[in-house]
Amino acid sequence: MTERGLFVTFEGVDGSGKSTQMRRLAGALRARGEHVVETVEPGGTAVGAQIRAILLDPANTALGARAELLLYFAARAQNVDEILEPAIARGAIVLSDRWTDSTLTYQGWGRGLGEDVVQDLDEIACRGRKPGLTIWVDVGVDTALARAGARNEAEANTATRMDSQQREFYLRVIEGYRALAAREPQRVRRIDGAGSEDEVFQRVWTEFQTWRGQNV
Ligand code: TYD
Repeated sequence: MTERGLFVTFEGVDGSGKSTQMRRLAGALRARGEHVVETVEPGGTAVGAQIRAILLDPANTALGARAELLLYFAARAQNVDEILEPAIARGAIVLSDRWTDSTLTYQGWGRGLGEDVVQDLDEIACRGRKPGLTIWVDVGVDTALARAGARNEAEANTATRMDSQQREFYLRVIEGYRALAAREPQRVRRIDGAGSEDEVFQRVWTEFQTWRGQNV
């Protein structure tokens, strides 16, 4: 590797616990003196946050699948220029909560747009930048729906467009992640998301350290 920076993404169906695990990894790395930059898709930048509001607003029932797809990539292109590339150039470890694998699974598999169009748009938005490691936190569809439901009840701003999706949609998304992990086993590492937060984090930490040991 000629660059010092690292790009690591966290993936999984809604309610998988990936965001919590990413925060814990960021904390553990910072405690060791590492320079970590955290970002999120959609919404890591100011422009991205505005796009995110459009995407997740339950009132936007008219938003079509292709328009939705392009909005995700508009947010990502902004992230690449504003956050990701500068941070990698500075030698940071960039952790992103979701990236193009979410678009492959949610839009490509979930909405049935297929993977090709997603890959083509990724080339434009990300200019060839790909994650070196992707942690896929895998939970079954029932766990995901139960956790997402509990979270919505606990939060003031409840149902979003995405959270109103049904079980069948999540099953296709999970199938997409499974296909990605089978196709790119070096990059996409499956982590069993069952168990306590600490147990899952031990798995994440071990996986990260193993990968890093192979990529220094
Ligand atoms: P969010 O509230 O961030 O969910 P989570 O905390 O589970 O990540 O909402 C993001 C939603 O957007 C989530 O349902 C997945 C969806 N999404 C896509 O459909 N395509 C994408 O490319 C991305 C980045 C997210």
